[in-house]
Amino acid sequence: MTTRGGSSMKWALRIPQPYIKRAIILALGFSLLSIWILAYYVSQTKQNPRWEPPQANCKLAESKANPFFPVRPQPMRDVAKNSRTQPAALVFVESAYSKLGQEIAALLEANRLKYKTEIVSGKSFPSLTEVGHGKYSLVIFENLNKYLHMDKWNRDILDRYCLEFNVGIISFAGKSEDNLLNKRVGDFPLYMHSNLRLKDCSLNPDCPLLYLTRAGETWRGNLPGEDWTIFQPNHTTYEPVAYAKTSSLEYVHVNENLDRSYLVTVMQDLGLYDGIQRVFFGNDLNFWLHRLLFLDSATYLSQGKLSLSLERYILVDIDDIFVGKVGTRMQTSDVKALISAQSRLGSLVPGFRFNLGFSGYFYHSGDDVEDIGDDALLANAHEFWWFPHMWAHTQPHTFTNETSLREQMILNKRFAKEHGIPTDGGYAVAPHHSGVYPVHVPLYEAWRKVWGIKVTSTEEYPHLRPPRHRRGFIYKNIVVLPRQTCGLFTHTIFIDKYPGGRSRLEESIHGGELFQTFINSRVNIFMTHLSNYGNDRLALYTFESVIKFVQCWTNLQLKTVPPMELGRKYFDLYPEEANPVWQNPCDDKRHLAIWSKYKTCDRLPRFLVIGPQKTGTTALYAFLSMHPNILSNFPSSKTFEEVQFFNGANYYRGIDWYMEFFPTPSNSSLQYLFEKSATYFDNELVPKRAHALLPRAKIVTILINPARRAYSWYQHMRAHEDVIALNHSFYQVVTATDEAPRSLRELKNRCLNPGKYAVHLEMWLNHYPASQLLILDGDQLRTDPVSTMWKTQKFLKVKPHFDYDSHLRYDPSKGFYCQVMPNGKTKCLGRSKGRHYPPMEADTEKFLSNYYLPYNVELSKLLTRLAQQLPDWLREELRGR
Ligand code: A3P
Repeated sequence: MTTRGGSSMKWALRIPQPYIKRAIILALGFSLLSIWILAYYVSQTKQNPRWEPPQANCKLAESKANPFFPVRPQPMRDVAKNSRTQPAALVFVESAYSKLGQEIAALLEANRLKYKTEIVSGKSFPSLTEVGHGKYSLVIFENLNKYLHMDKWNRDILDRYCLEFNVGIISFAGKSEDNLLNKRVGDFPLYMHSNLRLKDCSLNPDCPLLYLTRAGETWRGNLPGEDWTIFQPNHTTYEPVAYAKTSSLEYVHVNENLDRSYLVTVMQDLGLYDGIQRVFFGNDLNFWLHRLLFLDSATYLSQGKLSLSLERYILVDIDDIFVGKVGTRMQTSDVKALISAQSRLGSLVPGFRFNLGFSGYFYHSGDDVEDIGDDALLANAHEFWWFPHMWAHTQPHTFTNETSLREQMILNKRFAKEHGIPTDGGYAVAPHHSGVYPVHVPLYEAWRKVWGIKVTSTEEYPHLRPPRHRRGFIYKNIVVLPRQTCGLFTHTIFIDKYPGGRSRLEESIHGGELFQTFINSRVNIFMTHLSNYGNDRLALYTFESVIKFVQCWTNLQLKTVPPMELGRKYFDLYPEEANPVWQNPCDDKRHLAIWSKYKTCDRLPRFLVIGPQKTGTTALYAFLSMHPNILSNFPSSKTFEEVQFFNGANYYRGIDWYMEFFPTPSNSSLQYLFEKSATYFDNELVPKRAHALLPRAKIVTILINPARRAYSWYQHMRAHEDVIALNHSFYQVVTATDEAPRSLRELKNRCLNPGKYAVHLEMWLNHYPASQLLILDGDQLRTDPVSTMWKTQKFLKVKPHFDYDSHLRYDPSKGFYCQVMPNGKTKCLGRSKGRHYPPMEADTEKFLSNYYLPYNVELSKLLTRLAQQLPDWLREELRGR
């Protein structure tokens, strides 16, 4: 008998030798593989990032003699002459859609420089002056050829203008059909060669126009495009700005007399030849350095009128502290790297500090190593600025009430206090911009109450794109600053996985999008995330590199100040932005995604009756409300039933407040919401605001003879016991002079201004197309309301057609048309509509007829332009002359 053990022993002993060898090799291979996998894993998560901090030294170019004319003349600058010009540029473009023209306009816009574009045409030429003043302090030609081949007559006008007002010209040499060699540039002592391939661009440190741009470095590598033009001067008026080398060998055979390493790509004309200063660009704005040189040329040639400040503010927010996914969070070594990068950046950007936004709920939710990283951040909390994010990263717009939002904020604040995080920064950010814009009122209230927040930032106001249009605003005393994009998101954590590849990031840093943001925007708030500082620490690489690049190529002075100070700074620079302009959240997908699902854009009006006052607006409002598919606003107890949203302080209450005045339609395609506020007509803020929120709304206005309107308004003021109106006759009011007491002058203005119809209508037409504007005749509304209502329904395209004929009847005792009620009786407007008062005195009527004549003439022109019939009262006024 053999034991079980004995048999197995035997069995083992019976295993042939080669099998044992194979097993050992297999085990060895397996262990090696495990070590390799482990090493790979560790290298992916723990290795140092695959980049070095950028070098700290920028080259500074030494002054060297101009190779063409070593004795350099002084440029001509006559600031006094230029003082009579407006700070605006006139840009001659090839067409409304030409690429470079659009880029020039976008660059001017990004720097908030005013401009007007004009399509170059053979014949017509825009007027350049206005009552002895120059309308432009700079002229730009998208295409040099168009400038050189201008009609002689127009060229003379332009030259004379430039000489008289000391205005300079920028032009760009476009792509040339033929290869031009030694081609004379117009009748200037300057020659050009075209269609070249160039490389290695440098700047002339002695060129007087360099201001923002700093000479010293050389841009190595091929310049974009194969159609470069270079300039060769034959007069001391020319000063090279930028130069490059040729990278096309064939070129040297035909131009041996040219120094191949000094080919001038941008040339400044100091104005010593014909008194006009110019800058010629040998290519478009595709080359990043040209954007800087273009801005410097604009500053220089406009004698500082189109000038830029060198001061730039930068704030780097690190969002999602504690939030990142396991495996992507910061470790202790990353925290150390963050602190040392901060100190390096501090030597380049005075005051630099990273600004950390935290969600306490996710504290210690990484792996063991990452949790130690969380603790390292907290142990070094004093090194940074901190701001609260939402406790559990929940989007604020999903909270319907303020109390639950406050509760979440209190949890995060408690966490901060327990872990030594400062709580007095006054700055906060919401996840995905939620609640900031479109504004969610409970968020602002809760921020203010729990955290004492004074400043926040978003990319969403008014819209994410284009970035150059982003602006700030102030709502409920909280400053909302525009935020810029730096190309780093939660998922961009490894350099080799960067969208578009590493070269894309390098391009953005070295002259591309991110670098240009520093140039164009004076206040830059960038959002980055926890994960961008772990892993490959891409954020550190990006910011150190771009700031270094900014310092090497520009004279910009970068600074960082705490967010509250930044908020003050921003509105010192741009006070005109303080008041928000609300947009329709449903017109922007991103806005809709962060808007409460309990709100609906269906509660916004489809048309507005805008006034002016005393033309019959209440009658129109009442008649419209009779239509089964037209729903009016709920009356406001404060402002004579009108909402008066767009014209006054109500506007700052926001659109949630506005929407409360409207019912939710049961069928939003059939039913039309509207409101009537007669004060909208003549308030210059209203058309812009109304258009921003209701771009597709229809606008209805009613006009009567402006003299009669003024008289009715005066009677209205007397009925409301206005002391001035009670103590002065109508004649005294309308004829009050500049010497009259202020209160009387004010009453006069309020009485007469709305009647300048054409002025106000033009304002509306600047924002709304004529097809959305209906101008009704108030006399017809009074005497024949059925026709007026027929016309109005047709214009609104509201269905079904409502038969007003059987619903309106003239009421002899009221003296006006009134609504017919189901019981057959009439319901008229109240006593304040259709008042009884003596007729206007003849001399006042005559005075007003003269007063309004020029405005009535303008109105007749406007109505003719819109192909509208003139009302009888207007014909009579014009006929009487
Ligand atoms: P008066 O009271 O001076 O006659 P509004 O509603 O814009 O304030 O305009 C008031 C004016 O509407 C009145 O001015 C009146 O002349 C005019 N109106 C036109 N149709 C009317 C109607 N059916 N009932 C009452 N007033 C009407």
